[in-house]
Amino acid sequence: MPPGLVETDHNAASWLSSVNSKRKSHATVSNATAQEDAQPARKRWTIYLLEDFPPQAVQFCKDNFETILPSDPEVRNWRENADAIVVRERVITAEDISATKKLKAIGKQGTGIDIIDLDACDKANIKVLNTPGVNASAVAELTMCLAFAVARQIRTISVKQEQGLEVRKEHCCGLTLTGSCIGVMGMGAIGKMVASMFRDALGCTIYAYDPILPADAWADLPHVRVSSMDEMVPNVDVLSLHVPLLPSTRGCISMAQFRKMKPTAILLNCARGGLVNEKDLVAALREDIIWGAGLDCHEQEPPSLEMYKDLWETGKVVSTPHIGATCASTQVKTAITALERILVYHDSIPTPPYEKA
Ligand SMILES: NC(=O)c1ccc[n+]([C@@H]2O[C@H](COP(=O)([O-])OP(=O)(O)OC[C@H]3O[C@@H](n4cnc5c(N)ncnc54)[C@H](O)[C@@H]3O)[C@@H](O)[C@H]2O)c1
Repeated sequence: MPPGLVETDHNAASWLSSVNSKRKSHATVSNATAQEDAQPARKRWTIYLLEDFPPQAVQFCKDNFETILPSDPEVRNWRENADAIVVRERVITAEDISATKKLKAIGKQGTGIDIIDLDACDKANIKVLNTPGVNASAVAELTMCLAFAVARQIRTISVKQEQGLEVRKEHCCGLTLTGSCIGVMGMGAIGKMVASMFRDALGCTIYAYDPILPADAWADLPHVRVSSMDEMVPNVDVLSLHVPLLPSTRGCISMAQFRKMKPTAILLNCARGGLVNEKDLVAALREDIIWGAGLDCHEQEPPSLEMYKDLWETGKVVSTPHIGATCASTQVKTAITALERILVYHDSIPTPPYEKA
């Protein structure tokens, strides 16, 4: 087992060995071609890892590129010297981009690219290479987890017990989700996986709202396609958000939607803080307008007691600090996939004379 992987990471270990064998066979073919063509070896790009990444990803980077680690003082010169960088959470501004001298690609571990100034990258012809879909199952599993936890009041019950308070089962009253209606806003990689999990595991009816994807999308998944949130919101027992945060989606769930939801409805946000009007959510929970909420994403991250005291005091919320993709195996897969995408991009660029060894 590669170093740094824990015993339960069967998922990451087998994935990593398939990546390595894929690259070895690619290398064999490339070597054969290189010998036939008698081309000089290509100078490898220098990649600056601006944040800490799993050891397997760092090794992959060292195997394929000149690598500057975040612990190396040289890392602060990335704007001048990097051919490519890899980030997870670090914000890359237009000023950063305008200060770069030879940057050609930004690898982004994970899906969300709202931390990078895309317009500036576009203008400077810098590719932004994220890892859509790779973390979908991890985020979908957390979404399911929050749904069950809210439905069965797990947090309140558990916290009370730990405080030494007696919790009598006759005072607990949860909801079941089997056969319920699930509304999914945004049926991309994660939304579709959430829908499949609810459908396959619990026989749920799926309402799907995604005005961007074509009418025949998700042909393999029985669902009710709706053309507006209003068609979906009043009918669902769970409303799960899986859209990016855009000017058009900011605050898309507020009191107007809460008032249309069932009093037993659960709201889930494992997408982005800012989609939900949090003040309205507190009011909706206090006034029993909806049943509860499971939130992996908040306006303030990580969420603090100071900011979320009112929300958490309702006892109807389970909050986590954006941990959707934070599983050891997912971290390895997303980091290596970002590097693989840089490698594919690197290999796709014709070798200019100055890059030959
Ligand atoms: N909690 C976490 O740790 C975590 C991890 C990864 C991704 N995310 C977030 O989850 C969200 C979904 O990620 P994904 O990988 O499935 O992305 P994706 O691009 O595959 O899917 C997003 C979907 O939203 C749809 N969409 C866009 N605007 C919409 C709108 N106004 N109404 C309805 N649908 C709309 C798009 O057509 C697309 O199908 C993103 O916000 C991403 O940042 C969170």
